Amino acid sequence: MARNAVQNTENQGYSRIQVLPIAGALGAEIRGIDLAAGIDAETFAEIRQAWMAHSVVFFRGQKHLTPDDQLAFARRFGDIHRHLFNKAMDGYPEITELLKRPDQKLNSGGRWHSDQMYTPQPAKATMLLAREVPSHGGDTMFSSMYKAYEALSDGIKAMLSGLRAISNGDNRNNPSGMTRQERVAAGIAQIAQIDPGAAQTISSHPVIRTHPETGRKLLYVGGHTERIDGWTEAESKPLLQFLLDHAARPEFVCRFRWTEGAMALWDNRCTQHFAINDYFGQQRRMHKIMVKGDTPF
Ligand SMILES: [Fe+2]
Repeated sequence: MARNAVQNTENQGYSRIQVLPIAGALGAEIRGIDLAAGIDAETFAEIRQAWMAHSVVFFRGQKHLTPDDQLAFARRFGDIHRHLFNKAMDGYPEITELLKRPDQKLNSGGRWHSDQMYTPQPAKATMLLAREVPSHGGDTMFSSMYKAYEALSDGIKAMLSGLRAISNGDNRNNPSGMTRQERVAAGIAQIAQIDPGAAQTISSHPVIRTHPETGRKLLYVGGHTERIDGWTEAESKPLLQFLLDHAARPEFVCRFRWTEGAMALWDNRCTQHFAINDYFGQQRRMHKIMVKGDTPF
């Protein structure tokens, strides 16, 4: 009875879906819908409302969603943002298949980051659908950059408010310590790489940004961030390390256990995520689509 009472309270404001938060800071499961069957405008509006309220939402049991269905759902949120470095899936230039075979040691996304933060207009949304999952392990963690910002003192908030930081799409801040081409040369690249061509892969963004839809302020640094704009890397390192450690505090984080057909939809503007690499010997295969975002302010 008590659990139902809590669920009913959390679910206020929704008539088409059930919204069940999975942690205090962020993250909610959305139940009661079959995305492959199609959703009407009112249901979509409720999904958007839950997504803005919880920053990352999860749909289980969507294994019948085809790549075309997944793309059609993603396009309801905006135009598709193609990955600048990762090769797309055959036949689907807007989908990346993240395949980790049993013999591969490195995973993709195995550090805290926000997708495509190194581009001038980073992807606002990422939609990740689990096609094959290990029997256990391979969870993804998410952290609320709203909560991270709100917990800072007024003093450091004031100090950070005028700063910008540089994010680089080919940095060495990943678990291998190598650039993308070095990983390819060493035969340990997790995904086939493509040349980004003339696309901008190093960008400066405000350290404190305002979410364009919720109007809330948040901390905007991540795993691709190399230095504070105008500072050296050595000068930047202690401050960035503090901010990244702070943002990963357990009370700002949720952790999602994948099941086949589960799909996550996260807001890169106000979250970071971390793909846990703890399933060596097992295979994991995911389909990822990103949605274009705006210039951060
Ligand atoms: Fe990612």
